[in-house]
This record gives sequence, structure tokens and C-alpha cells, in this order.
Amino acid sequence: QGRVEDVQELRRSQPTVIPARYVRDGNERPSPALSPILPSMDVPVIDLSRLGSCSSKTPEHESEMAKLAAACEGWGFFQVINHGVEHELLEKMEKLAKEFFMLPLEEKEKYPMPPGGIQGYGHAFVFSEEQKLDWCNMFALGLVPAFVRKPELWPTNPPSFSETLEKYSNSIRLLCETLLGFIAESLGLRRSFFNEMFGEAVQAVRMNYYPPCSWPDLVLGLTPHSDGSALTVLQQDTASVGLQILKDGAWLPVHPITNALVVNVGDTLEVLTNGKYKSVEHRAVTNRESDRLSLVTFYAPSYEIELGPVPELVNDKACLYRRYNHGEYSRHYITNKLEGKKRLDFAQIQTS
Ligand code: SIN
Ligand code: FE2
Repeated sequence: QGRVEDVQELRRSQPTVIPARYVRDGNERPSPALSPILPSMDVPVIDLSRLGSCSSKTPEHESEMAKLAAACEGWGFFQVINHGVEHELLEKMEKLAKEFFMLPLEEKEKYPMPPGGIQGYGHAFVFSEEQKLDWCNMFALGLVPAFVRKPELWPTNPPSFSETLEKYSNSIRLLCETLLGFIAESLGLRRSFFNEMFGEAVQAVRMNYYPPCSWPDLVLGLTPHSDGSALTVLQQDTASVGLQILKDGAWLPVHPITNALVVNVGDTLEVLTNGKYKSVEHRAVTNRESDRLSLVTFYAPSYEIELGPVPELVNDKACLYRRYNHGEYSRHYITNKLEGKKRLDFAQIQTS
């Protein structure tokens, strides 16, 4: 697939030129005339402090639980506040990630993402010369279990990057476990259900840096896709609005809320819930004025487990997904390009 150009370098050398590989065909363009935008709704906000930490069944707990269920069912996305991750840690990680992206290219290329690879600095999901490219640079690292880690890709510059990422990773992992507990409860399962099932969960982070773009109506920051994870936790800077989700056939911007985290249901949770909770397509757009940074944590079961719709959630309904090995799905996911929810076909039971 040849070498993928570095978008920051492109932007620096010729700020107004967009190479053809970045220019989207008509119906993929983000211009509102071509893909309708719903500006007037907002994804639900869940207050984790209202859910409590003990097995409380207060009216407050129940009403927030209903909100959580409605968000997972109707939106596939929500923002979470009072989530327990220290705000200083969020700020520090964001600042260090930005510093990393601001380093000279030679420095970042000490941690190269190999063609077809998913870890390191570069661009994942590029498989052919014909494929349109996203207006962003990525830096991705496997976090846990130990075997997904590539220590040689952990940067020594900025100096406190790796140490902070370790703390960040631990703190976001706790949040994922807590959220999965409440999500299980919202489905009528015991709180420990998914956390026990997942075994040694796999966690990875991808940092996306979107430089400003002179022709934001022609390019995408990130191609529409759904996530392969069970849950994704996304931190975005508040400088601009870039994330959009597909809602009722139109694109809906997810407005940043200071110190909130965006959570979305991934393909794996959609399968486990037999489609009750939705893995929703999303994309990123760019703008002329400001750059944008997002820090995305993917949380998924151990590669070892066999999964499929949870029987209690299928009951008398049609079973929509087959059983498969999660490691196989992960492999399928990373070896195919981003293309809406297409990769979930892997798990779909064909009905005719
Ligand atoms: C992603 O879906 O991985 C990132 C989207 C964003 O940058 O907001
Ligand atoms: Fe995503």
C-alpha cells in the first residue's frame, strides 16, 4: 500500500493543498448538503455518582440506570461525568499526548507503525493504494495483558509520557469495569457478569491528532466505522467539535464537555446483548481553524473466549449472531478497512 504521508507534515509544507487520496467522493463528504447533520440533539449524559458504588436501589440509582439502558439501546453512545478518573490525570495525559504529536517527525518515527500494523505512530487500516486516507495522525499502544505490549514503542519523550499513560490506563480500566457492572445490571444480569466472562481483558489506547484542514468539506478526519471493542472510552479536547455519530440517518456532533468522557458500545457488546445495545457508526470531521486531539481506549474480552449472544438476553427472540472466538474477530477487525459496521457481518447469522 506504499507509504502513507504524515498529515501534519503535509499541512506544514503546503497548507492549502489536499492530495487526491484525501478527497472523498461526493456522498462520503461531510458537507451538510451531502450528509445531513442533526445539530439540535445531544447524546445522553450519565452521572456515575448517581449510580453509586454499593448495591443501592435508591430512586436516584434506578432513574440513572434507566437513563443508562436507554442510552445504550437508543444511542450506543453517552457521556459520563463524575466518573472517578482524576481530572488532573486527564489533563496531564492530554497535554503529554499533544506534546508527543508536536515532536519533530524523526522523533515520532522512532516508534513506527508497520504497514498493516496497529501499534505505533502512523496510520492503521490502510490496505490499498485506492483507499481514501483520513486527515489524521495516530499513535496507538497495546496496554494489557502484558503480551499485547510492545515496550519498544513506548516513547521516552516527553519524559513523563509512559509513566502517565500507565496511570491513565489503570484508571480507565477501573472505569470500564465499573461501567460493565452497571451495564450488566441494566440488562438484568448480575453486576459481575461481563467482568467474569471477559477473563483477562484486553485494553489498548489510540491517540488521534487531527491537524486543521483548509478544505474540511472534502475530507474526513476518520472514516465512518463501528468499534470492535466491548466498550470504548474516549477523551476529547474541548477546542473544537469533531466526533459525529450516526443517529436516525443523520450525523450528530458530540459536543465536548470539560472533564467528561465519551463512552460507546462496541461490536462485541452488541453481539453479547443480541443487538439490544447498539454499536453505532461514528466518524471524525476536521475544521479550518483548530487542530483536535482524541484519546481513545478500547476495552475487550480476552482473545481466548468464545462468545455469542447471552442466552438470557435472547430468550424467545431470534438469535442474530453466531458464536465465535473473540481473538478471531479481533484479527478480522484489524485486517479489514474501516467501513461502517461492515466488519460485524463476520458475526451475523444470515437470515433469508
Ligand atoms: C475513534 O473513533 O477512534 C475516534 C473518533 C474521534 O476522534 O473522536
Ligand atoms: Fe471509533
